[in-house]
Amino acid sequence: MAETIKALLLGDIVGQPGCRAVFIGLKKLIKDYKADVVLVNGENSADGFGISPENVQMIFSSGADAISTGNHVWQKKEIYPLLESRAELLRPANYPKKAPGHGSCIVDVKGQKIAFLNLQGRVDMPNLDCPFAVAKDEVRKLRKDTNIIIVDFHAENVEEKEALGLYLDGQVSSVTGTHTHIQTGDERVLSKGTAYMSDIGMTGPMTGVIGSKSEEAIQRQQTQMPLKMEIEDVPATLNGVLLTIDKKSGKALSIERISKKSL
Ligand SMILES: [Fe+2]
Repeated sequence: MAETIKALLLGDIVGQPGCRAVFIGLKKLIKDYKADVVLVNGENSADGFGISPENVQMIFSSGADAISTGNHVWQKKEIYPLLESRAELLRPANYPKKAPGHGSCIVDVKGQKIAFLNLQGRVDMPNLDCPFAVAKDEVRKLRKDTNIIIVDFHAENVEEKEALGLYLDGQVSSVTGTHTHIQTGDERVLSKGTAYMSDIGMTGPMTGVIGSKSEEAIQRQQTQMPLKMEIEDVPATLNGVLLTIDKKSGKALSIERISKKSL
């Protein structure tokens, strides 16, 4: 029996191109990388903003074991009942308790329990509960069942992301970021065994501005008007990471950057 778990994490699915890339390419990616478990951030899958029940169905049927989200999760109201009922569909755990849904789950993969925890940053983002305090409580709770804990920290600011990574070092298997849509080059295993990367990038079109058409994006910057961003309609790139985790200790052995252009 293998002594390690391979976890594939994919960053924010952006609109139709991102959904197409997941639908066409995720199963092959899982096979090629021999991934045992898959986490996908789906908060931008519905035309770039939010996630619909149809998106959830497609992402799970393409091979994901859990879906994380972020600040755009509230965009489509029809998702709220699913946030309550579907254990593996997460919203950041540090939203106020009155918000629908939950921020962590445990999945069973070939007899091995693996926990996922979704958190959101507060720098240049909504003023949520402290992600550090919520992480501490959640990790304490999750470690009663498993020491393999994978954290998606949906946040804007690298300082905040690195601080959380180091705060949780040795307590969780990984802390990786989503939200900026741009993959960073700082992947590493921290000194106490937590894999870290500031942002794993998006599953979306790479030719525009963070997945959107460049014309509107440039105009937005020039005019400072809240112009609606349209998603680029070109094949997406699947960006993410592959983690190798020691089953017994829950510590990460490696983190490898993935960037695969879809058809
Ligand atoms: Fe976001």
